[in-house]
Amino acid sequence: MKEMNILPPGGRQQRPQLKKPTWIIVLISILCIFVVVVYVHPPQDSTACYIFSSSSCSKTISRWLPPPSRQLSDEEIASHVVIKNILNTPPLETENPKIAFMFLSPGSLPLERLWDKFFQGHEGRFSIHIHASKVKPVHYSRYFQDREIRSDKVDWGKISMVDAEKRLLANALKDPSNQHFVLLSDSCVPLRDFDYVYNYLMYTNVSFIDSFEDPGPHGSGRYSNLMLPEVEKKFFRKGAQWFTLKRQHAIIVMADNLYYTKFRDYCRPGMDGRNCYADEHYLPTFFHMFDPTGIANWSVTHVDWSERKWHPKSYGLKDISYQLIRNLSSIKESVHETSDAKRVTTVTPCMWNGRNRPCYLFARKFLPETLESMIELFPNYTMV
Ligand SMILES: *[C@@H]1O[C@H](CO)[C@@H](O)[C@H](O)[C@H]1NC(C)=O
Ligand SMILES: *[C@@H]1O[C@H](CO)[C@@H](O)[C@H](O)[C@H]1NC(C)=O
Ligand SMILES: *[C@@H]1O[C@H](CO)[C@@H](O)[C@H](O)[C@H]1NC(C)=O
Ligand SMILES: *[C@@H]1O[C@H](CO)[C@@H](O)[C@H](O)[C@H]1NC(C)=O
Repeated sequence: MKEMNILPPGGRQQRPQLKKPTWIIVLISILCIFVVVVYVHPPQDSTACYIFSSSSCSKTISRWLPPPSRQLSDEEIASHVVIKNILNTPPLETENPKIAFMFLSPGSLPLERLWDKFFQGHEGRFSIHIHASKVKPVHYSRYFQDREIRSDKVDWGKISMVDAEKRLLANALKDPSNQHFVLLSDSCVPLRDFDYVYNYLMYTNVSFIDSFEDPGPHGSGRYSNLMLPEVEKKFFRKGAQWFTLKRQHAIIVMADNLYYTKFRDYCRPGMDGRNCYADEHYLPTFFHMFDPTGIANWSVTHVDWSERKWHPKSYGLKDISYQLIRNLSSIKESVHETSDAKRVTTVTPCMWNGRNRPCYLFARKFLPETLESMIELFPNYTMV
């Protein structure tokens, strides 16, 4: 029989041969336990040291073992304990949960009348907050009247961008009914109707924060060692700034000062002769460090970088069609491309509560001239 040749019958002849390796394994195991014990409780007296080596024993041991984990500073311990506690506190149930729509804009919102259509009939389930950094906006929609918060100048790529995001969050958090927080720009349009957006964001337990590892010059190439020891290069992430945050995460952003300060000081234009943009790295890195499974890793706001220019594609009047919006809203995979020569592309299915679903609720950048066409198409493309 063939099997007899391959599998030995397993008899007496095998046993004596097994004895030797077994003893070696036992011996090695005892040695390993001894080494671990010595490592955890380093010998204090010279006799114990002599067993290991005649010279300074701690040095010898540390040569063969990985260094013990770093001693955290008082500030880090305080930060970690606050973050862990907020994460472990179950969200408060509110009678009338709302979504906060936070608009970051230089002034007026050119697409306000499209958003007016989006919000119509859903009073009481949303709140609007506007950060207008240059001029006081003129409004065309009652939903946007008197919704500006105290604003400040925003410089593209500088920390003032993150400050504006935090200012919007702080103001939106004042309303305890707000359960999810969406950051939008003046060139954003809705790809779905209000109910779809509300359910998508309210009935999930993650924040939609774009976060991926880009080893190229526009990713980890922007990292500075001055961020050490709190922010290690291996945790440095990149992502588009257009996030949605669940309430718990919004509170954590308010609570953080330590990591924010690292990005404010060492991730800025001209840092070490390179340009680092805090709004593309602070939250993607921070949440990757503290709650990696609590974020989706993609943004629900679509943007088209396929032209590979310094700015993403802007949609003008000639681009607008029913098919364009349907195309954008039917994408079910998120794509990330590294900025190094290899241009490694990662395609990830968008998973919503364990189910593959379309990724995008909003899209940018839409020029003001698209307004009338978008208003006309809105009832059509949100019908299905
Ligand atoms: C979110 O819910 C899914 C199930 O729907 C669960 O597997 C996952 O662990 C939850 N994540 C968090 C961060 O609570
Ligand atoms: C996001 O990425 C991190 C690792 O980078 C991973 O642990 C986490 O599961 C991802 N989130 C989701 C929702 O898949
Ligand atoms: C929509 O997607 C289809 C299939 O990928 C493509 O052929 C078509 O050109 C797209 N249309 C627009 C307007 O983007
Ligand atoms: C929307 O309009 C397009 C033509 O512009 C038409 O082909 C399509 O059937 C319409 N869809 C709905 C749901 O009405």
